Amino acid sequence: MSAILPPAERLWWKQPLDRAELLWILIALAWCMVLFFMMPYWHLYGKQNLANEAYRMSPERYSALTAEMVDKYKVREEGGDLKVPVVHPPAGGDAYLIARLWSWYPILELEAGKSYRIHLMAMDYQHGFSLQPENINIQVLPGYDHVITVTPTHAGTYGIVCNEYCGIGHSTMTSKLYVVK
Ligand code: CUA
Repeated sequence: MSAILPPAERLWWKQPLDRAELLWILIALAWCMVLFFMMPYWHLYGKQNLANEAYRMSPERYSALTAEMVDKYKVREEGGDLKVPVVHPPAGGDAYLIARLWSWYPILELEAGKSYRIHLMAMDYQHGFSLQPENINIQVLPGYDHVITVTPTHAGTYGIVCNEYCGIGHSTMTSKLYVVK
């Protein structure tokens, strides 16, 4: 018997199943079932599962909502030549983040222990939201308002990097997210 040579009997699928083969098929099936049921289990009982929603929305409408939030809740500005507003939205509320060539706008400042609905949308092409060092990764697409409900647990400064290649300025598409007490 060889894996390279053809089987001795041409109609090999009509031969009886070997005990060892049946055993491995059953082991593989049982393991598949374990993994299958672990998916809903971890979604309900895991500590870091994103219950996300996505809605169709035009980039114009999305940037209007973002501008409205920035006007209302801007606390300061940061950066050199290109000033980026730092926004402290109300706890429990909506926080909008825009991804575009090649920056994130604005900088969000959240409170630890409070829950937020963080919205993400790209204005031009596909980008990737990657929150470090938490390692939360979400695709950011134009035309879709992607909402994730999160409760930051630890205060600190987190890094946001784009992890979807988006052209010449991709490597500079970074930002920050503040979590305060
Ligand atoms: Cu945006 Cu890479």
